[in-house]
Formats: sequence, C-alpha cells, structure tokens
Amino acid sequence: MYRTHNCGELRAQNIGEKVTVAGWVQTTRNKGNIIWIDLRDRYGLIQIVGETGVVTDQVLEELKGLGREYVVQIEGEVIERYDKNPKMITGDIEIKATAVNLLNASLVPPFEIEDDVNVGEELKMKYRYLDLRRKPVQDKLKLRHRVSLETRKYLDSVDFMEVETPYLIKSTPEGARDFVVPSRMNPGQFYALPQSPQTFKQLLMVSGYDRYYQIVKCFRDEDLRADRQPEFTQIDCEMAFVDQEDILNTFEGLIKHLFKTCRNHEFEGDFPRMTYAEAMEKYGSDKPDIRFEMEFVNLNAVAKGKGFGVFDNAELVVAINAKGCGEYSRKQLDALVDWVKRPQIGATGLIYSKCNEDGSFKSSVDKFFDQEALAQWASVCKAEAGDLILVLCGDTDKVRSQMNELRLHMGTEMGLRDPNVFAPLWILDFPLLEWDEESGRFHAMHHPFTSPKKEDFDLIDTEPDKVRANAYDLAMNGVELGGGSIRIHNKQLQARMFELLGFSDEEAKAQFGFLMNAFEYGAPPHGGLAFGFDRLVATMGGSDSIRDYIAFPKNNSGRDVMIDSPAPLAKDQMDELFLTTINPKE
Ligand code: AMO
Repeated sequence: MYRTHNCGELRAQNIGEKVTVAGWVQTTRNKGNIIWIDLRDRYGLIQIVGETGVVTDQVLEELKGLGREYVVQIEGEVIERYDKNPKMITGDIEIKATAVNLLNASLVPPFEIEDDVNVGEELKMKYRYLDLRRKPVQDKLKLRHRVSLETRKYLDSVDFMEVETPYLIKSTPEGARDFVVPSRMNPGQFYALPQSPQTFKQLLMVSGYDRYYQIVKCFRDEDLRADRQPEFTQIDCEMAFVDQEDILNTFEGLIKHLFKTCRNHEFEGDFPRMTYAEAMEKYGSDKPDIRFEMEFVNLNAVAKGKGFGVFDNAELVVAINAKGCGEYSRKQLDALVDWVKRPQIGATGLIYSKCNEDGSFKSSVDKFFDQEALAQWASVCKAEAGDLILVLCGDTDKVRSQMNELRLHMGTEMGLRDPNVFAPLWILDFPLLEWDEESGRFHAMHHPFTSPKKEDFDLIDTEPDKVRANAYDLAMNGVELGGGSIRIHNKQLQARMFELLGFSDEEAKAQFGFLMNAFEYGAPPHGGLAFGFDRLVATMGGSDSIRDYIAFPKNNSGRDVMIDSPAPLAKDQMDELFLTTINPKE
C-alpha cells in the first residue's frame, strides 16, 4: 500500500498512530535544524515535520532535498502540533517523519500551485494539468461531478433511461455550423459531429423508450464567448405522451433537486413564468436576469412629439430607472455614454435625467424637455428624488437589445447581481419562426421539429411570423440554462414546416427522410428539453465562465493550447482521406 491515509483525513484522534501518506510537496520551510513540509493530495494538506535530534540525520537531509511539486511518500507518526493552524482541516496535528521515499522529482512549475495565482490565462491553459492541481479548480470539477451524479439519480428515480447516440452523424440543422469528419472508407464523404442528439432522441420516442436522457457532448462551430465552447455538454432529455406542463414540472423538479443536493439551496414555490413577448418588452432579452427589477419603461407617450428629432424619429424610446444613482458625477455619466457607444453595444447616444433631491431634474436634453416634461418621465418611470433615468431610442429590436446590455451593466455596477442568489425563470411561447434578412427566408427559432401552438395553426398560412411555438427556455441569472419544445409528430405538419423553412420536397427528404419515414410508423406525441450542463454547473458555482468548470477547455479561438490543436495533418494522412487544402489567403 502506498498510503494508509490521504492528506486530508488525519485529525487529533489519530495522534500516536504510525501512518504513511503520499502526495505533492506544496511548500517547504527550512529553519536549519527543523523543516516543515506541506504535503498535498486531492483530499487536503498535511504538515510533515523533521527536527534535528528527533528524526534521523538521513530523514532530515532527505526532507531538505525536496522541492516544490516533488512526489513523495512519507512514513511517520501523528503528533500534536505545537502551533495549531485553525485554517487547515488537519491543523491540529502533523506527521513526524520517520522515512522519506522520493517517488518523483519535479521541474520548478511555471506558476505556484496556490489558491490564488496571478498568472495569465494562456499560461494556465498551456499547463492545465498543473492548474488542475489547484484547490479552487478541483472544487469546481467536484461540483460538476456531484451535479452529474445527482442528475442521474434524479432522472433514474423518475424512470428516465440513459441511451447513447452516435457522434459520427449527418448534419442536424440547428443554426450553428457543423464540425465535420472525413470518411476514409467513403472517399469524398463526411460525417458531421452532432450539434445535439435531437433527431435521435425523437427516434427513441418512436421506438417506445418513453423517457430518455443522456449527459452528452455536443459540437458547434460558432464564435466563442465566456458561456460558449465548441464542444460542450448537455443534459439531453425527451419524453413521450406529455404536454408542455409535464415537461416543465419534471425539469423544474430536477433543477430543485440539484440545487438542494449540491448547493444546499431551496427554492421557494414554483419557478416564475413569463412569455417571450413580455420578457422582450420588460427586459429586452429572452433570458432576463430577474435578481433585480429595473424593468424597461416605454417613454413613447411622454417623450415623442416634443420637437426632439432623435426621439420623434425613433420607433421606441425606452428608459430604465437606476435607483439611487442620481448622484452620478459628470465623469460617471460620460463613462456610461461611452459604454453604450462601444461597438459591442452600438448605441448612438444615451440620454439621462437626474432626479435631484430638491425635486428638480437635470437632464442632457434640457433644451427640449422642461421641468414639467421631465417630471412626467419620472412619474412613468416611478423615479424618486435621488434616482437616475437612463434613456435609449431607436428601432425596437435593436434598442431593446442595447437597453438589455445597459440594464445588466447597471445591475453589475450597483451590486445587484449577487452570485449566491438564484433567480430561475421559465420563458414560454417563443415565436416559431424568425425572419433572416440575409437569406431572405424564415428560420426555425428553436429547430424545425418544434410544434406550433394549436391556437396559432390558422396563422401558419396567413401570418407565419406571428405563429407562437410550444417552446420554452429556463433562464437563470441572465443565463439560458436550457431549452426545448413539444415536437411535431405528424408527418403532414412536419412537411408543412419544412416548406415554410424553404426546403424543397427533395431537400427535406434528403436531410430528414429518415425522421419523416419514422413518423409513418406510429410516432407518439413527444417533447423534451436540454440543459447546458457546463452553464448549469457554472451558474450553480456562481460564475459566468463555463471554461473554469471544464477540465480541458478551449480558448477563445477554439484552440487547445496544451495539446496544440487543431493542427495540420501529415501528407499521407491527407492522401488517405482524399483531402487537399487550399491556402486560406487565396
Ligand atoms: P439548444 O440549442 O437551446 O437546444 O441547447 C440547449 C442548451 O445547451 C447550452 N448550449 C451551450 N453551452 C455551451 N456552449 C455552447 N456552444 C452551447 N450551445 C448551447 C445552452 C442551451 O440552452 N436539441 C435542443 C434541445 C431540445 O429541443 O430538446 C437543443 O440543443 O444552455
């Protein structure tokens, strides 16, 4: 046996025991006649001590020879620590070394393996295996492990069955680009990696599996952000003989179970619900952060028609009330104006009105709006003395999205986005279709298998853009944690949907013939949902960067800098696959 105990489990009750531990040298403190070593493994830290006259000279010399990150096995006796360390779980005791067995030396690591290290992201990623030794990183992966275990327990307890689906498939049309894999055995042909197991889980419903789930890798070739990775994990689920209500209840149950077991957090009552239309109107986002209010206020009625051209020509004049920010200085306000003008936000300007303590107003458009007019703004915004009204205007969709960014920014500035507060919200009734200017045709907002709402069937032929879908998302703290829909299980309706999306009969057959054929053999009513597992765990951990919760993530250019991938292939490999590259610059 390499060890009798791990580095985190010894306590005062073990005093007097002979033990063997093994791990990595975290730190050494050498005072000449006495040396202390902190030894680390996944379970914790333990102090090893060697003192002249107490341990043999050989042991003392061996301890002195140990460098940072050396791997070592120590035999010794557990003794009471003279200088106890209440910050360490094992801080009441230490091990008096009686034998030192060096298992492996280490180069000096490029950064210290400490909880807080001040080192660039790129270096940490290049040496991710060292970064992974750090406790805060291990804690994140432990949370991930717990959440996956509890997900399986919960879903198993309500009859879901985990079924694996293939990774080498054909394109699924879900919006993003596919990653493709050339086939050696089928020259000139390519597999696509799944963006999700969508069609397979629907086939499993046709096959009678009733309740399917899978914790599964998905692959999407899209531009990366803090909450997006090219390969990410979903808790993917599908159920037969259900309507939307059954699905929402089942997965609300899952989320509550996960927060209770993994975060010791209980939600009060049912998760709130909101339609997509309301979410866009109040927050300009289909994943609003409702940890704080600051809802949008439509100022059209009080701001337009007063001779201020910028407002008069705008489709929407919209405001938020930043409570208590009326004291913002000129400099702070200028910084906000610059902030909304950044290309990522793209507003042309920002108008404000400060509600002064004496009941007067100070705005950036005093020329066009007198005190009485500004008092009207304050009244519709429910603003009081000491508040700050911020106004944007323009085309409805654009200005809503800009105001959403500003609202989140103000929420952050005002300290209203506490990572330990969790605010779930179901968003319902998404539009079925969205118009794509570039291609001049409709796209499915969720995916082409999503069922329209029965009440809106009649609109399909007349006003397709008004048709709502039986589609839902779960948002939490401004993050889209998951989404799904009730599916079309009728062949004619599915064919009509493909037609709406601009697929010819042949294209639809070539792409989805297998699914449409399957629907001829008794498809049950079905629906499902998928949670972004990385996003769920990151949100539970109070972070908005999913990368920290993935053992080996990619950077923003989609590269793994540790293994240096992607990389060119050798010529003979390319030949074998019948591939040739062209210089991207040409
Ligand atoms: P959707 O495309 O909404 O639905 O994906 C489900 C959830 O997956 C997460 N997600 C991502 N996480 C990290 N990186 C990415 N690049 C990424 N893309 C998506 C999000 C999202 O809510 N087949 C449907 C589900 C269904 O209808 O049942 C689907 O994939 O949290």
